[in-house]
Amino acid sequence: MAKPNGKTALITGSTDGVGRVVAKRLAASGWRVLVHGRDRGRGEAIAAAIKDAGGDAQFLAADLSALAEVRRLAGAVQQATQRLDLLINNAGIGSGGPQGARQTSADGYELRFAVNYLAGFVLTHLLLPLIGNNAPARIVNVSSLGQQPIDFADVMLTHGYNGSRAYRQSKLAQIMFTIDLAQELAGSGVTVNALHPATYMNTTMVHQSGLTPVSSVEQGADAILNLATSAALVGRSGLFFNGQREARADAQAYDAAARQRLKALSLELTGLSAKISAAEEQSRR
Ligand SMILES: NC(=O)c1ccc[n+]([C@@H]2O[C@H](COP(=O)([O-])OP(=O)(O)OC[C@H]3O[C@@H](n4cnc5c(N)ncnc54)[C@H](OP(=O)(O)O)[C@@H]3O)[C@@H](O)[C@H]2O)c1
Repeated sequence: MAKPNGKTALITGSTDGVGRVVAKRLAASGWRVLVHGRDRGRGEAIAAAIKDAGGDAQFLAADLSALAEVRRLAGAVQQATQRLDLLINNAGIGSGGPQGARQTSADGYELRFAVNYLAGFVLTHLLLPLIGNNAPARIVNVSSLGQQPIDFADVMLTHGYNGSRAYRQSKLAQIMFTIDLAQELAGSGVTVNALHPATYMNTTMVHQSGLTPVSSVEQGADAILNLATSAALVGRSGLFFNGQREARADAQAYDAAARQRLKALSLELTGLSAKISAAEEQSRR
């Protein structure tokens, strides 16, 4: 373990897969890591292993399929740390569900849209004050090359549902959010980028989707850590990477009107608009 660098990172979905490797590698290089997932047994074991090796970690449990839990997680992070130098929105579910059936979140939203996108949207907004406190800081959104334009007439995919479409629209939504947020945060010292970590890594998600792994988890972790820590990316924001190479996302990501539409919908679905306007109102007083 490297000696502590005084910085703290939250990695959502770090009880398994690529997030777990990223958490361990950040801890080994001196970061304090907040490990997150649903599974308390695995989460506590990962935090304990990091501490046994001389690092610093704390596990925070939350099921991101309920917005109330996302808000609770934001509160727990604020309790756990005075500073957040890095937020990696990595938790996600793949395209394979039970019998390919449409699933919904605790709030009644299409499940992949809720977990893969809306949860990170809310968590990031709620943690922005903490992230901005000690800028420079970074936000990394773990998206995918699998992207599909959002049909605003049926965002919740009530017609012609399929898991792959659900996954892909949630992954494009993350990139649209990344570009928007980068514009909002310009000049603040907080940067935000998105990436496809690697193709079909050897993880639970890939196995559950019935796919054969073609990349290692380490390869995906390298790409995430590049966005999280590389000196070459200081000050660069609003970008999409395929692995470690800057790339273009689906065309809808660059459509400002579509992004505005998604943002308005997301604020409405999460109830954040009221909270943000109240904060703006208070800051004007
Ligand atoms: N695997 C690939 O080839 C690939 C390719 C492109 C992009 N990605 C993206 O990379 C990210 C990580 O994927 P992975 O392959 O490492 O997946 P994974 O091994 O299945 O791990 C997923 C992580 O997300 C957490 N998670 C899932 N649903 C959750 C929920 N409702 N609430 C809280 N946590 C939840 C899991 O926690 P639990 O321990 O509670 O289950 C786990 O820690 C995802 O965003 C995925 O879309 C992966």
